[in-house]
Amino acid sequence: APGAQRFIPPDADTLDELRGAAGGCRGCELYRDATQTVFGRGDESARVVFVGEQPGDMEDQKGLPFVGPAGRLLRRAVDDAGLDPRHIYLTNAVKHFRHSLRGKRRIHQTPDQVHITACRPWLVAEFARLTPEVVVVLGATAAKALLGPAFRVTRQRGELLPWPAAAQHPEDFQRVPVDSAGKTADVPEARLLATIHPSAVLRADNQDVAYEGLVADLTVASRALA
Ligand code: URA
Ligand code: SF4
Repeated sequence: APGAQRFIPPDADTLDELRGAAGGCRGCELYRDATQTVFGRGDESARVVFVGEQPGDMEDQKGLPFVGPAGRLLRRAVDDAGLDPRHIYLTNAVKHFRHSLRGKRRIHQTPDQVHITACRPWLVAEFARLTPEVVVVLGATAAKALLGPAFRVTRQRGELLPWPAAAQHPEDFQRVPVDSAGKTADVPEARLLATIHPSAVLRADNQDVAYEGLVADLTVASRALA
């Protein structure tokens, strides 16, 4: 897969401009069977940014991230963790819905490393325009995109890690924001926290225990806000 980079307008200042350009991305084959690109959404000055896996069936149809069952659960967990749901930004590591067909049913397929790598430039571009204090990594796919293939969510979930130092290629997320007067702008120090994906809660044998674990991790993120 040649990747998304060539679809990213270098002069795109805003997330809206990026979102517009992402609509035409053909950086890997996933655009072909999906309905549309599902770009990140939310408060552009969000103090907490969530990175999921990829859009699901519902997200693919609506064109918005986290509007299906996993999204509903995530919003409840955000609320229960004391985070303000109006001041978050939600995005995904991969921006098209990877699936297979079983009859007319569309079955979720976990994206491969090639899709994660192809789509990663969009994630990097989003972070260049966001100023989170905490970046929440939801599940293994997002962890592969941000922390590399060796990271184990089960082992390091709920821990505040230095951002972007903990990222696989910290230089991709390093930026020196400059204001209109040419001065380096004040950007809060961000941290990174990995946890399980809300879909994993829905699949868990004991959903209550899994849900409480997710809320506990998000509470760590909530308490980390200045
Ligand atoms: N799961 C995800 O990872 N992202 C979505 O947007 C929806 C479900
Ligand atoms: Fe582009 Fe990402 Fe969609 Fe692949 S999944 S076509 S890289 S937006």
